Amino acid sequence: MKKSIDEHAARFSDHAADYDESQDSREYRACADLVVEHAAPGADDVVLDLGAGTGAIAFGVAPDAERVIGRDISEGMLERAREKAAERGIENATFGEGRFRDPNVDSAVDIVTSNFALHHLSDAEKREAIDVVAGLAPRRIVLGDVMFFGEPNPEDPFYSPEVDDPATVGVLADAFTGAGYALTAVEMVSEQVGVLVAERN
Ligand SMILES: C[S@@+](CC[C@H](N)C(=O)[O-])C[C@H]1O[C@@H](n2cnc3c(N)ncnc32)[C@H](O)[C@@H]1O
Repeated sequence: MKKSIDEHAARFSDHAADYDESQDSREYRACADLVVEHAAPGADDVVLDLGAGTGAIAFGVAPDAERVIGRDISEGMLERAREKAAERGIENATFGEGRFRDPNVDSAVDIVTSNFALHHLSDAEKREAIDVVAGLAPRRIVLGDVMFFGEPNPEDPFYSPEVDDPATVGVLADAFTGAGYALTAVEMVSEQVGVLVAERN
């Protein structure tokens, strides 16, 4: 059964200490690298990373950006991200509570990134989230996630059907175009994992 936001938050908080070591798949690594590569912030850009987790994307873009705002629902994951920022001496990335449909951001953002997080929402919630993100008017949105390029193989899901709800690429593309963005890049990492880049029209 689909989990509530609080259940997802608790699940990730329980897992925060060993999260980084558990993300060792080729697909995850390739996806994260592509999100950072496509985000490509300039020195004046503020990047909002949604579903920031322990900071994989935030720390990837921070050296090139002016500032990174990491938002997540799991206090355990956020705390681990703050610890890592302190350990690495990264001062331009901050992490706080915020969710896709209520990011808790009151400053202008230039680029929004998200990696392996949006698939926790239903398709209707994903559309709503993309509308909310578009309302922040970033010039670019980079979404890496579990997404279906074709028919998913039920024998070999790259996700947990009991807690995850990935969309097709078509559903996500429609949500971006409906929100006033054009898809400028589609990267297929596997049949079930990809990166979409959307730029404001
Ligand atoms: C698989 S982790 C990915 C973390 C990170 N982006 C990465 O690439 O390693 C998914 C993250 O999404 C967060 N999350 C789940 N639902 C969310 C929501 N509605 N809003 C914001 N974050 C959410 C979880 O708490 C978790 O930290």
